[in-house]
Amino acid sequence: MKNFLIDYNLKVRLPILIFVVLAVFVITYYMSYAERVGVGHMPIQPINYSHKLHAGDMKIDCRYCHSDVESSSKANVPSAKVCMNCHTIARIDRPEIIKLNDYYTRGIPIEWNRVHQLPDFAYFNHSVHVNKGMDCSNCHGDVANMEVVEQVKDFSMKACLDCHRNPETTIKNIIPGKDRQLINKGPTNCSTCHR
Ligand code: HEC
Ligand code: HEC
Ligand code: HEC
Ligand code: HEC
Ligand code: HEC
Repeated sequence: MKNFLIDYNLKVRLPILIFVVLAVFVITYYMSYAERVGVGHMPIQPINYSHKLHAGDMKIDCRYCHSDVESSSKANVPSAKVCMNCHTIARIDRPEIIKLNDYYTRGIPIEWNRVHQLPDFAYFNHSVHVNKGMDCSNCHGDVANMEVVEQVKDFSMKACLDCHRNPETTIKNIIPGKDRQLINKGPTNCSTCHR
């Protein structure tokens, strides 16, 4: 009886369990396909905001607007209030700034379109990467030179693992003041990214 139960567990339940886990991955993968279009994705935004102008020419630090990257798994997109720190004065007569001011005064959040998007079953954490010294450009390319943000790097599982296995050669740009030597290899066990 006991042997039968062990046999039953291994031969019947384990394959079923593995099948269910894989089926869930595959189904979520296809269901979320529309929202994560990958390299080349460059959606038109509700306000014609330029990273090249603000982060490039004016050299506003990425963290001024994406202020959560060091403390949170998600990198926030700034609210209109952050823009209004300057745009209560700067270029208030321009059509796009009138639009911005309209969102702000009516209290309607700007519905920015997502550029990068992992499927729900994959977990990513900004603060872990950024605090270790990895510059945004390693994963997002040269955003400071983009008029419209475009996904330029592949976020496939292979791309994550390539860097996790060989961070010394894959990480190109280190944040000034951080020490490349202190960066360990990244995790490769399934449960760190699929939880
Ligand atoms: C003045 C504010 C501001 C600054 C400075 C800024 N950003 Fe942004 N960022 C935004 C806004 C607003 C959006 C959403 C609209 C868009 O995609 O252009 C955004 C979007 C993004 C996205 C795409 C998010 C997604 O949906 O996938 C990335 C990546 C990004 N920024 C990286 C950077 C980097 C890297 C820097 C510094 C070189 C930077 N940003 C500087 C305001 C800012
Ligand atoms: C630190 C100050 C500052 C912040 C913060 C800022 N801007 Fe600007 N922005 C400027 C200045 C200054 C200009 C004009 C630059 C020029 O024309 O040389 C400008 C120009 C623009 C323009 C072009 C206007 C035109 O047609 O000439 C748009 C659109 C714009 N900003 C949107 C935004 C949005 C949206 C945000 C928030 C995500 C934002 N800005 C945050 C300072 C800022
Ligand atoms: C190790 C790679 C990596 C680094 C470094 C990185 N990002 Fe990201 N970023 C990603 C991934 C992956 C996503 C998609 C996350 C998701 O869909 O859950 C993303 C998404 C975003 C988003 C959209 C909101 C979100 O959190 O999903 C913004 C904004 C962003 N990144 C800004 C930045 C900025 C600014 C920096 C530098 C301070 C930075 N990122 C550094 C990989 C990275
Ligand atoms: C450019 C290199 C690079 C890329 C690309 C990258 N990672 Fe990482 N990641 C690392 C390194 C290095 C670490 C370990 C940092 C340390 O502990 O020193 C890490 C750590 C992690 C951790 C551990 C977080 C924790 O809580 O301990 C997770 C989860 C993770 N990465 C997920 C991802 C996912 C998902 C992707 C792909 C979308 C990705 N990473 C892409 C370099 C990278
Ligand atoms: C460093 C993070 C990371 C680790 C570790 C990881 N994965 Fe993934 N995995 C991802 C990401 C990100 C995706 C989504 C890729 C995409 O959007 O195409 C993914 C996608 C998948 C998919 C969907 C099909 C595919 O290939 O895109 C399966 C199945 C999967 N992973 C299984 C596993 C298994 C089993 C392990 C352990 C051996 C594992 N993953 C380890 C990040 C990781």
